[in-house]
Amino acid sequence: MERKPPSNNRIPELQAPFRYKGNLLAVEGLPVESIAARVSTPVYIYSSAGILERLRAYQRAFRSVPHLICYAVKANSNLAILRLLARHNAGADIVSGGELRRALLAGFPPGKIIFSGVGKTEEEIKDALRARIRMINVESEEELRLIRKTARKLKVQAPISIRVNPDIAADTHHHIQTGSKTNKFGIDAAQTIRLYRETARARELRIMGIQCHIGSQITQMRPYGKALEILLSLRERLLKEGIPIEVVDIGGGLGASYHEGPSPHPEKLARMILPKFRENDAILFLEPGRSLVAESGILVTRVIYRKNSHGKHFIIVDAAMNDLARPALYDAFHLIQPVRKSPTGRWVTADVVGPICESGDILGKARRLRTPRQNDCLAVMTAGAYGFSMSSQYNSRPRAAEALVEDGKWRLIRKRETQKDLLRGEIELI
Ligand SMILES: Cc1ncc(COP(=O)(O)O)c(C=O)c1O
Repeated sequence: MERKPPSNNRIPELQAPFRYKGNLLAVEGLPVESIAARVSTPVYIYSSAGILERLRAYQRAFRSVPHLICYAVKANSNLAILRLLARHNAGADIVSGGELRRALLAGFPPGKIIFSGVGKTEEEIKDALRARIRMINVESEEELRLIRKTARKLKVQAPISIRVNPDIAADTHHHIQTGSKTNKFGIDAAQTIRLYRETARARELRIMGIQCHIGSQITQMRPYGKALEILLSLRERLLKEGIPIEVVDIGGGLGASYHEGPSPHPEKLARMILPKFRENDAILFLEPGRSLVAESGILVTRVIYRKNSHGKHFIIVDAAMNDLARPALYDAFHLIQPVRKSPTGRWVTADVVGPICESGDILGKARRLRTPRQNDCLAVMTAGAYGFSMSSQYNSRPRAAEALVEDGKWRLIRKRETQKDLLRGEIELI
């Protein structure tokens, strides 16, 4: 799957890991239908070749500077996916004690783990310091105080990076915009300078980095350029005061392609960032989540019923908003494709909906597709990021199974939850 590095100004396109082979949707040559038949539905299916192609595209795009690609674990935190990325030299960007545990279990070296988030608890800070991770991205003055106190208790030095709020509004859904001054994330520039001075004086703290993350599903590169300029000028200012900062972390957020057509290539991001970055002696960190895994995953679901009421068509499937929250949460669009194309089915415009008792439980609105039969499988595309990781047990529905295709074979990487799993923690208390 390795592709040639870009020549001259041409940016290559990333390959879609899921393609039709005749009438059958296939992943790395394997028919999706045969995996779904074995595991049952709903099931998330991921392509390791697709994920690695995207990781390598980042690594190639930024190879001219010292860098680390810290995968944002929240996008898809399955241990097998984490292990795959860890084996291929990625770092990990975590946001909770649970993600720290997963990252360590998957084999990320602690020196490649960074910890973001506005509300880290004392317990989480302790765990991170004990694990000796690379840096904690601090998001408030009170957090910095707690880290200092905790480090003193543990008799360690805490590696600090401050998350700057650059007041940049990236052009994306307002729920996933994080870099503007109205968002809860990061600290303004004036406070940042003050906190670095305080950090430089504290024996329990060690300055490691400066960070920002301006949002998710970003397709315009200019906001990254502006954010980097702000980080670099703060770094420069602090350097003049004798406060050096080794790591400059520009966050994640590069978009994936949810419609037909290519997604923004990491090379495009590199072309915006590297000319501004190159003069520096810093190490560049990036925190991509979605752009590494989104397009390399699908959610396969089976048609339960079809119905027509008041002249409107519905296709009722066995996956729902508890399995994939993005359409209900962000009004997000996911292509829905047949797992086996039927050249004869009648064309229909229908809402593809799940069994959950909410009108918002719609996976796809007004989709034009050939009427599937009962028990036919459909694939909800670009579901590898913020799919399973955001899923819930709402309506007492066990969460879906997950499978990974690697080297032409597939394997289960998460068992489907059972009714027993759903009751654990309650049944023993009644
Ligand atoms: C701090 C931080 N870094 C990285 C990411 C990853 O973003 P994306 O998946 O859009 O690349 C997020 C996502 O919300 C985040 O909060």
